Amino acid sequence: MYEKILIPTDGSDTALLAAKYARALAEKFDSEVAIVHVIQNYYTLPAFSMPDTVTIPASVMQDLESNGQLILEKTKEIFSGLAGKVSARLEYGPPGKAVIDIVEEEKFSLIVMGHRGLSGVSEMLLGSVSRHVLHYASCPILIIKGDGTM
Ligand SMILES: Nc1ncnc2c1ncn2[C@@H]1O[C@H](COP(=O)(O)OP(=O)(O)O)[C@@H](O)[C@H]1O
Ligand SMILES: [Mg+2]
Repeated sequence: MYEKILIPTDGSDTALLAAKYARALAEKFDSEVAIVHVIQNYYTLPAFSMPDTVTIPASVMQDLESNGQLILEKTKEIFSGLAGKVSARLEYGPPGKAVIDIVEEEKFSLIVMGHRGLSGVSEMLLGSVSRHVLHYASCPILIIKGDGTM
């Protein structure tokens, strides 16, 4: 059970907490772990009352990529010393869709993620990425609430 665990992260406290839960599960089930941070490589702007997408400039993209690498490294530290395979990567596109594509293509058996992220809209029960993943994923999902300790 839970042979392959996917941890989508935006570097938020909740996502880091989710990674700690994922580590506990990976130890118990000898799972392979993959960490992913998705860079949304476009802006959506309202133009003439129609949404329009604008490509992100290269310099901003570089900042997003170096920030993304830091997020991956910080998350990977949580798994240091784990016996099984741990990988970390950047992906590009709409985060929720990118996570679902990975899960389907690479046959993950569990997703562990936070219920909220960096947006800070605290009235929402689930953020837009966790909502999308919960709606479309075909494998079990563990959604972690809270940003404290386990
Ligand atoms: N860009 C991203 N790449 C990978 N995972 C993400 C990304 N953004 C959010 N997540 C995951 O989704 C969870 C919920 O975040 P999100 O739905 O974006 O909420 P919020 O609207 O509060 O930012 C995070 O804890 C994290 O696990
Ligand atoms: Mg977010």
